[in-house]
Amino acid sequence: MSSAPPNPPNPPWDVHRLPVAADRTFLVTGGNAGIGYFLAEQLAATGAVVVLGSRDAGKAGAAADSIRAHVPDARVRHLRLDLADLSSLEGAVERLDVERLDAVVHNAGVALDDPPRRETDDGHELMFGTNHLGHFALTRWLAPLLSAAPAARVVTVGSFAARSERLDLDDLESAGDYRPGRTYGRSKLAQMTFGFELDRRLRAAGSTVSSVVAHPGGALDSLTPSRPPLHTTTAGERLRALPAALMVQGKEAGAWPVVRAVLDPGVRGGQLWGPRVFGLRGAPRSEPVPAHMADAAVAARLWAASCELTGVEPHLGLIPAGR
Ligand SMILES: NC(=O)c1ccc[n+]([C@@H]2O[C@H](COP(=O)([O-])OP(=O)(O)OC[C@H]3O[C@@H](n4cnc5c(N)ncnc54)[C@H](OP(=O)(O)O)[C@@H]3O)[C@@H](O)[C@H]2O)c1
Repeated sequence: MSSAPPNPPNPPWDVHRLPVAADRTFLVTGGNAGIGYFLAEQLAATGAVVVLGSRDAGKAGAAADSIRAHVPDARVRHLRLDLADLSSLEGAVERLDVERLDAVVHNAGVALDDPPRRETDDGHELMFGTNHLGHFALTRWLAPLLSAAPAARVVTVGSFAARSERLDLDDLESAGDYRPGRTYGRSKLAQMTFGFELDRRLRAAGSTVSSVVAHPGGALDSLTPSRPPLHTTTAGERLRALPAALMVQGKEAGAWPVVRAVLDPGVRGGQLWGPRVFGLRGAPRSEPVPAHMADAAVAARLWAASCELTGVEPHLGLIPAGR
């Protein structure tokens, strides 16, 4: 009796030869610039429909034109999306006008270098409010569309800046002692903690959706290929940045672990993906999840506070489509 031949092993992941995903739709927040632009360009090359979530129609239009110039037949659209305006997110998702969503990439981010502390119009600290609360609430409104796909993913873009931070659960919005770098790192830690907690809750609910966290390492504009008029790196800038290239990379490479987290069938919910070399540059690999990011007690308190601050709760797998 002859037995069936074993399945061939998956070929090694090649960031320049991505699998075809022509039947899928992906939403990239902040898809008009930086890493988000390159996420969109690389995902568009798979044949998927890519929606650029951006608050600025002009910037999104320029990004879409650039993607089409680099990816013949790219299917790319704009969705007006302002993560700092929580009450606008339900309407934004209604305008998405798709029957299902195969992945959302929570990429958009604000990183402030200097005081003073700033707030969104909703009255939330700007980085925590945009990076964490905006994506938390967006996940709630996208839930029916993600649940309608066969195996959707929520991919949260974290940061190495979160490794050395700890959340202050009594002052999540840095009202007491504001330091921009620390508040940024904590906003990324809140996002990553949310990403891992979301996956635990999805598994417990028996959802088909999974949640993965990925980070770009260190990604500098000066090491990034030009995409005029969006972004131009001069030869001089590139030359001056060469020593930095020993440690970090450009934004097109920063997109690689995130793209893999969206596309690779071998990626599992609850995983953390980042660049191979010191977690700062290179090809994507999965990393151990630092204990403080997987602390279920901290995550539960963050989740409850986020529900209170946004007025919504993401419940994937439990919300029927159309509600
Ligand atoms: N670059 C790095 O080395 C690095 C390292 C670790 C993690 N990260 C993370 O990677 C992600 C992308 O970083 P990047 O370096 O590409 O940043 P970037 O070049 O500054 O781009 C940020 C993107 O977020 C968008 N955005 C900001 N506020 C928004 C809002 N209220 N609503 C919707 N979109 C908004 C921006 O849109 P506008 O053009 O309208 O402002 C822009 O598209 C961020 O989450 C960041 O924390 C980056």
